[in-house]
Amino acid sequence: MATNRTFTMLKPDAVEKGHIGAILEKISASGFKIVAMKLIRMTKADAQTFYGIHKERPFFGELVEYMTRGPIVAAILEKDNAVEDFRTLIGATNPADAAEGTIRKMYAASLGENAIHGSDSDDNAAIEGAFHFSGREMF
Ligand code: RTP
Ligand code: MG
Repeated sequence: MATNRTFTMLKPDAVEKGHIGAILEKISASGFKIVAMKLIRMTKADAQTFYGIHKERPFFGELVEYMTRGPIVAAILEKDNAVEDFRTLIGATNPADAAEGTIRKMYAASLGENAIHGSDSDDNAAIEGAFHFSGREMF
């Protein structure tokens, strides 16, 4: 059964470029309610764990370097059909392939620096949310 929560990170490039406000505005305007949020810099160990599913991939080292180079905004979002609708809102992994009006089309520079993360399943949304937030930081 689909749950109504997903997890997101505004990645270091989006934070560096000053896009936090614009991206959060677009997320809110698309019907997502913020139920947890923080600005945090992940350690290498954090990023290696978070993206552990990709540890054998050739881009893993680059991904960990990028995700730890500066702060990110982590958030849990609530909406009916949250996981699928949020993946639609952020667009394809490579911004060159992302649909017009999606967050990656508007704010991402490249496949490696693609501005935003969205959980890919309800199970991962719960795991990723619990990775970043304690129970009393979730509303
Ligand atoms: P994310 O987990 O960050 O939301 O991205 P995603 O689901 O759209 O893509 P995923 O397959 O989970 O890949 C995680 C991140 O790894 C980088 N990547 N680089 N060089 C490459 O071929 C490559 N493929 C993926 C991307 O930054 C992607 O967001
Ligand atoms: Mg992914």
